[in-house]
Amino acid sequence: MDMTVSRVDPAFRDDVRRCFAEGSHAIPARWLYDRRGSELFEEITELPEYYPTRTETALLEKYCGEVADMGAKGRAVIEFGSGSSTKTPHLLRATQPTAYVPIDISGEFLAASAAQLQEQFQQLPIYPLEADFMRRINLPDEVSNMPKLGFFPGSTIGNMIARTSVDLLRFMRETLGTGSQLLIGFDRIKDPDILVAAYDDSAGITAEFSLNLLHRINREMDGDIAVDQFRHIAIWNDLYARIEIYLEAQSDVCFSIDGQQYGVTKGQKIHIENSHKYGLRDARLMLRAGGWSPVSEWSDEKNYFSLILAEAHPLKNAP
Ligand code: AVJ
Repeated sequence: MDMTVSRVDPAFRDDVRRCFAEGSHAIPARWLYDRRGSELFEEITELPEYYPTRTETALLEKYCGEVADMGAKGRAVIEFGSGSSTKTPHLLRATQPTAYVPIDISGEFLAASAAQLQEQFQQLPIYPLEADFMRRINLPDEVSNMPKLGFFPGSTIGNMIARTSVDLLRFMRETLGTGSQLLIGFDRIKDPDILVAAYDDSAGITAEFSLNLLHRINREMDGDIAVDQFRHIAIWNDLYARIEIYLEAQSDVCFSIDGQQYGVTKGQKIHIENSHKYGLRDARLMLRAGGWSPVSEWSDEKNYFSLILAEAHPLKNAP
């Protein structure tokens, strides 16, 4: 029996149906990260044009000691969307936590990266948690009484529209509790040419990353989309302060997915990703809207990227 069909996430199938059958012409960015997509994203982080990863990593190397000094000792570090956990060692070395809880939707990735970290930090109790961090999460009992430091690097928050970001920050506050801290990365607003280049690199890796979404549909839903008829486009939307990524049909294209016939006309654009950018005040306001008070922030000298440490102060009635 062919098990591949039953392994498709029903939520992915619904989102793809909504895109083509109901004509939303949009697919949520989270579906970009199957195994191949995750590999391609790792390649993106090493591109000369893609500044965020190396800028944030340098900030972590430089300032994690200050982060450690600003919070209680013996904390549990909780990482949201840990993926391959490549930025985590800096934080763990500096903060010397009593436990580490990496949270990710992809259980496969999670187990592998937790095992790798365990080798580097042999004394550290690690409790991997396979969960969707867009909802409230019950943390493992072992960490329930420890003070907590949340970690949300990579400007992952940039993938979300403002309303969803605020929901997420509020969930994180509920998950971590009053008195906890959150270290979060924000990608800054900058020259649109630099932004567009970061999302449309000359080697074409980002284009491959985007087009992999169509390959994934073909693989998982028995599709026959002619992927070479689509083109990756990255544009700067100044009103929304975000990079928008589309797949544009280069001709009228007909295809079938799960035995259903669909079509898109030449020039039709499928919206597959947003990457929001922030002014410092935008980032602070976003945090406060989610119940987090900024306490400290660090940026590189070009102001390309910022790390903000925020605290979940007790909620009180505003005057
Ligand atoms: C993983 C959401 C931070 O928006 O920069 C990179 C994803 N997409 N190139 C980003 C991404 C295309 C990335 N985030």
